[in-house]
Amino acid sequence: MAVKGRLLLFSSFVLNVALTQNITNNLKYVDPLIGSANGGNVFAGATLPYGMAKAVADVDSGSNQGGFTTENGNVTGFSTMHDSGTGGSPSLGNFAFFPYASCPSDDLNRCVFPKKERKIPYIVDSVKASPGYFGITLLSGVAADMSAAQHTSLFRFKFPSTGNGTSPLILLDLTDLADSRQDNATISVNAQTGRMRGSARFLPSFGSGTWTGYFCADFKGADIRDNGIFANTRASADVKELKISRSINNFPLPGGGFIRFSSNPTEGVLARIAVSLISSEQACRSAETEIPNFDFDVTHKAAEDAWNEKLSPITVSTTGVDTSLVTNFYSGIYRTMVNPQNYTGENPKWQTTEPYFDSFYCLWDSFRSQIPFLTILDPAGVTHMIRSLIDTYGYEGWLPDCRMTLSKGYTQGGSNADVVLTDGYIKGLNNGIDWQKGYEAVIKDAEVEPYDWSNEGRGGLDSWKSLGYIPTQDFDYKGFGTMTRSVSRTLEYAYNDFCIAQMGDGLGGKEEDVEKYRARSENWKSLYNEDQKSFLFDGRDTSFTGFFQGKYLNGTWHNQDPLWCSTIDPGPRVCSLQNTGQETFESSLWEYGFYVPGDQAGLISLYGGPNGFVKRLDYLHDQNITYIGNEPSFLTVFQYHYAGRPALSALRSHFYIPRYFSPTNAGLPGNDDSGAMGSFVAMSMMGLFPNPGQNVYLITPPFFGSVSITSPLTSKTATIRNVNFDPSYQNIYIQSATLNGEDYTNNWIDHSFFTEGKELVLTLGKNESTWGTRVEDLPPSLSEYAGLGVGMGQSRK
Ligand SMILES: *[C@@H]1O[C@H](CO)[C@@H](O)[C@H](O)[C@H]1NC(C)=O
Ligand SMILES: *[C@@H]1O[C@H](CO)[C@@H](O)[C@H](O)[C@H]1NC(C)=O
Ligand SMILES: *[C@@H]1O[C@H](CO)[C@@H](O)[C@H](O)[C@H]1NC(C)=O
Ligand SMILES: *[C@@H]1O[C@H](CO)[C@@H](O)[C@H](O)[C@H]1NC(C)=O
Ligand SMILES: *[C@@H]1O[C@H](CO)[C@@H](O)[C@H](O)[C@H]1NC(C)=O
Ligand SMILES: *[C@@H]1O[C@H](CO)[C@@H](O)[C@H](O)[C@H]1NC(C)=O
Ligand SMILES: *[C@@H]1O[C@H](CO)[C@@H](O)[C@H](O)[C@H]1NC(C)=O
Ligand SMILES: *[C@@H]1O[C@H](CO)[C@@H](O)[C@H](O)[C@H]1NC(C)=O
Repeated sequence: MAVKGRLLLFSSFVLNVALTQNITNNLKYVDPLIGSANGGNVFAGATLPYGMAKAVADVDSGSNQGGFTTENGNVTGFSTMHDSGTGGSPSLGNFAFFPYASCPSDDLNRCVFPKKERKIPYIVDSVKASPGYFGITLLSGVAADMSAAQHTSLFRFKFPSTGNGTSPLILLDLTDLADSRQDNATISVNAQTGRMRGSARFLPSFGSGTWTGYFCADFKGADIRDNGIFANTRASADVKELKISRSINNFPLPGGGFIRFSSNPTEGVLARIAVSLISSEQACRSAETEIPNFDFDVTHKAAEDAWNEKLSPITVSTTGVDTSLVTNFYSGIYRTMVNPQNYTGENPKWQTTEPYFDSFYCLWDSFRSQIPFLTILDPAGVTHMIRSLIDTYGYEGWLPDCRMTLSKGYTQGGSNADVVLTDGYIKGLNNGIDWQKGYEAVIKDAEVEPYDWSNEGRGGLDSWKSLGYIPTQDFDYKGFGTMTRSVSRTLEYAYNDFCIAQMGDGLGGKEEDVEKYRARSENWKSLYNEDQKSFLFDGRDTSFTGFFQGKYLNGTWHNQDPLWCSTIDPGPRVCSLQNTGQETFESSLWEYGFYVPGDQAGLISLYGGPNGFVKRLDYLHDQNITYIGNEPSFLTVFQYHYAGRPALSALRSHFYIPRYFSPTNAGLPGNDDSGAMGSFVAMSMMGLFPNPGQNVYLITPPFFGSVSITSPLTSKTATIRNVNFDPSYQNIYIQSATLNGEDYTNNWIDHSFFTEGKELVLTLGKNESTWGTRVEDLPPSLSEYAGLGVGMGQSRK
């Protein structure tokens, strides 16, 4: 997903050359605040890799989807569940604490309890964020810092002295960022121990249904003076239990618990809170197991160690390279493991021994490079994710396309879990994955139309099978969803079918399926209107003819301007999931004009051969038609490879990084989308970009002298080394290459590079060369490459 219209360009860097030769501790290059402004919407707080507990200060800025931002907004609380980089309405932010040094005149009822009134500015310079740690000081003088374990957050609040009356108070609010709490949230406060337990039901932020969260909070560091509950603006220590309704006249009712302390220790008061989706008992067990002694340093160190372990397989030579680029790289990698979240053991919906992952938010974003990146860096993690997706299919009947807090999220285009599964399958992931069941799941996507295809599967399957496209204004009486996006759905469904064919081919014994889905993968051709022209909004002809276009059931073309929903569309235009949206989702016919990942050779032929294709791709980028802040653009940066021009992919990736992705708070071009943007930075900079669903990485020179990645599965180390590396990036063109010492001319490589620990040496120069330009050097494509080179085209599978 993307929030459009806020592009930040041309950050200037202080030239700061790293002195370290080879990095041993990658964590020092991670800045969790990248993307905390300008709509990046990242989660900037403390978490473990894939952690469920995510502690941060929440602000009330309009861009608080991930809790905290560094632009605008006052702190409304400190909560413990979050998503990262999402758009739309804010996600999670449940069961916030709020600290007060004391209540005025020591009168409980003069503390301001409701979130909208208690909120308070923070001291800008006080914000500190690093993996597993977040700290901030409020204008009230209360300093908070925090760390996290898997389900448990630990907050440390240090209160200023307010004289004799200093009697710190912490409240726990039965709320979330979106004020989505439903009826009958509860809390009970134990007078002796101070423990608070309870639960509340909330709405998922981009999906259907409701979900229930449970918590267990304990406090340490000072004697309890009193405790109780608050409702609206009033509190009492005489009441220890609260059950509270949703609202009165749509006003979300404030309510929760409080605890007051009789002293104000200089080392602060510790507040520990665990969350569970099963029960508050389970939350208490997690808290006691994960942070038994309230030891802040131990918790923080364990989180750092966990991150260090995740980031350690990948090292780069930083010689000569501006530190900001190293920070960009490792911070991008870090963000790929904040979401999805590991909720194994927290799924009340079905009994299973399989892992359960959540916050796939959404696969439409992450199938392109995030999950493929994790397949390299954390194959065991992706194995768990795929097992979870297949297990979710087993229970829900469908693979998810988007999923958060046990709820079905909205589908944006195709059934892109098909791509995720295929990508993992062809890259050899196994270890407990039931691939036959996975195959059954993708076949169901392709064959069976769900009643509610806005949450799962695909719509319009009757037309898909009989007409070979999704018609504009389809007649679909079997299943229901937003009847738009007929072009982007056709293109995505076609690629989904391509992937199914790949998987069927690999599994063996499914020749009929393979033939059928390979044929269906060519459905994109039905929507190619060879006469379609495109004019800029000032009337000038782009001079390109032939675009995809919507087509009605009767075969008549629909007529959407190919530049609508592009970055240069003056709009206003509705381009997302609304009923009034266009036939392309969050992008233009121009950009979707390249979305044929399985048959680039076929597309190149339609666009007048490699020269016509390159001219069109250049125009897409040079005229700002594409928007690098939204995922459909990712592959277009590297598609020059398919036209035999790998040099131009390298040039393009340096055009976008760091210009549009800089290691600053406002440095992302849009929502990070659960780490999708982070993975684009990571894979572009390491010089291997995936065509997801295929065993293909497109080769460009890494942004570093060398990059080494040790496969966590095989312990073998793959290295890419640049000869003639030039940190001013004049030499970005590959002149020649060797793989394990042998000449290598393919402009792509497969996954065995990583698992077998090969060495790729790239010799660079200032000018484009003939390396990787011949037909036999090109990546596989369904059709043969025609009109390129001397006709040595082979369709390689
Ligand atoms: C850095 O790592 C690269 C690749 O592993 C290696 O060739 C180089 O010698 C290392 N440099 C130093 C200073 O350790
Ligand atoms: C934050 O609070 C301060 C003081 O109450 C107020 O002046 C300011 O407008 C608030 N900022 C926002 C973004 O709401
Ligand atoms: C603190 O308490 C003492 C004794 O009750 C009183 O004399 C003094 O004025 C108080 N100081 C403040 C700052 O409230
Ligand atoms: C909430 O509690 C009220 C009062 O006990 C009860 O009447 C109502 O049915 C409950 N609502 C739900 C959704 O449980
Ligand atoms: C997910 O959590 C479970 C239970 O805590 C754990 O066994 C598993 O290793 C975790 N998986 C990943 C990829 O972190
Ligand atoms: C086909 O259907 C479209 C949409 O209803 C309509 O505008 C068009 O006139 C029809 N074409 C023919 C040839 O009937
Ligand atoms: C594309 O956008 C950039 C940044 O806003 C601008 O400098 C450039 O002139 C634009 N190019 C065109 C052709 O509009
Ligand atoms: C590189 O290209 C430039 C401009 O196209 C040309 O002037 C120069 O001679 C070329 N350099 C080499 C080493 O071929």
